[in-house]
Amino acid sequence: MSERVDIMTPAFRADPYTPYAAMRREAPVCQVDPGGMWAVSRYADVATVLRSPERFSSQGFRAAWQPAWVGHNPLASSILAMDGPDHARLRGLVSRAFGAPAIARIEQRARDLCERLAGRLDGEVDFIAAAAAPLPAFVISELLGLDHALEPHFKRWMDDLLSVTPEPASAEHAARVRATIAELDRYMADVIAARRRSPSDDLVSELARAGELLGDREIIDLLVSILGGGLETTTHFLGSSMLLLAERPAELERLRASPQLIPRFIEEMMRYDGPTQSVPRLTTSDVALAGVTIPAGSLVLALVGSANRDEVRFTDPDRFDLHRGQPSLTFGHGAHFCLGAALARMEAKVALEVLVPRIGEVTRAPGEIPYNRTLTVRGPVSLPLRFRPA
Ligand code: HEM
Repeated sequence: MSERVDIMTPAFRADPYTPYAAMRREAPVCQVDPGGMWAVSRYADVATVLRSPERFSSQGFRAAWQPAWVGHNPLASSILAMDGPDHARLRGLVSRAFGAPAIARIEQRARDLCERLAGRLDGEVDFIAAAAAPLPAFVISELLGLDHALEPHFKRWMDDLLSVTPEPASAEHAARVRATIAELDRYMADVIAARRRSPSDDLVSELARAGELLGDREIIDLLVSILGGGLETTTHFLGSSMLLLAERPAELERLRASPQLIPRFIEEMMRYDGPTQSVPRLTTSDVALAGVTIPAGSLVLALVGSANRDEVRFTDPDRFDLHRGQPSLTFGHGAHFCLGAALARMEAKVALEVLVPRIGEVTRAPGEIPYNRTLTVRGPVSLPLRFRPA
């Protein structure tokens, strides 16, 4: 590969898997645009990056999401961006909130919501707006104990926070991102103050109670990272899943006939076209990987989306195969393994269990599918589909 690949072009966003294959073959550790970040594309090397925090620090999130023009970005200072004992302490405090009781508490309400959303899938519908975005927003509100009336704002907030790139797209983009961060800070600070006055059984109250261990700044950053971690990812997952079912009626038929295959569908979908494309890290020293030396202080993208299609790891990796039974790296690997993985799997299972039997037929409506433009996650921004109810 003679030229640097630009991982943000619409063509790359629409199909990253073809250029990934060339990168794995010809330049498994190389620099990419924008900005000359380093990209690691083979499964074994991606796994090495993710399980070696002493060489590949999670401060990579800070480098990716907090260039000077942004100022303080809660996502860039959160649990995602921490290493070592600080990270372990915070993870210990927050992980209980993601356990089986919390998931069980939310599941029935998520199922009720899906029943209501299923009624919208009739005729030509943007599946993202109709179902893929509302479900994760509802689940996060339940988890954190936020006002459901705010859910329409979640997407705008996260679109702005995740749109950060080394240089702003325009002066207007820079101003919008900074205004959104200020708005989020104000809103979360108000919620924390309210829960301190009258606690409830939600995550914000639990974190506010741990007040002597956590300051407001730390809680705000954490809440925003949970919002960021849980919203876009799950929305993209649901969108990409429905797109695959629209393009492959045989898979829809198979799930309708055998709903017990839904968990397998979810795992293979996470691998085949999962929402996580790259996980950023920062090198703490010069590091040699696949025969290339990455200088100290470099921003490295562990290309999980490419690792999941690595032919050395997965036989016939471009084939969607429900019976593969090999885990992917979509929820990460090592100390930062996704805290919300069980919650996300529950959401996906509930959505497919409710929606699949209600869909008689789903096909693509004409037109290109626009993909989002962020470093970390990928999925359709809108997804016009035609539904015929069963
Ligand atoms: C399909 C859905 C999801 C995917 C693909 C996904 C993926 C990931 C990945 C790859 C990481 C590791 C990042 C790293 O190593 O730096 C991560 C971490 C995290 N995820 Fe998820 N996630 C999903 C859903 C969720 C949900 C629903 C929540 C919460 C509501 C959530 C909350 C978090 C948090 C808090 C972390 C940080 C853990 C840590 O730094 O120790 N995620 N996720």
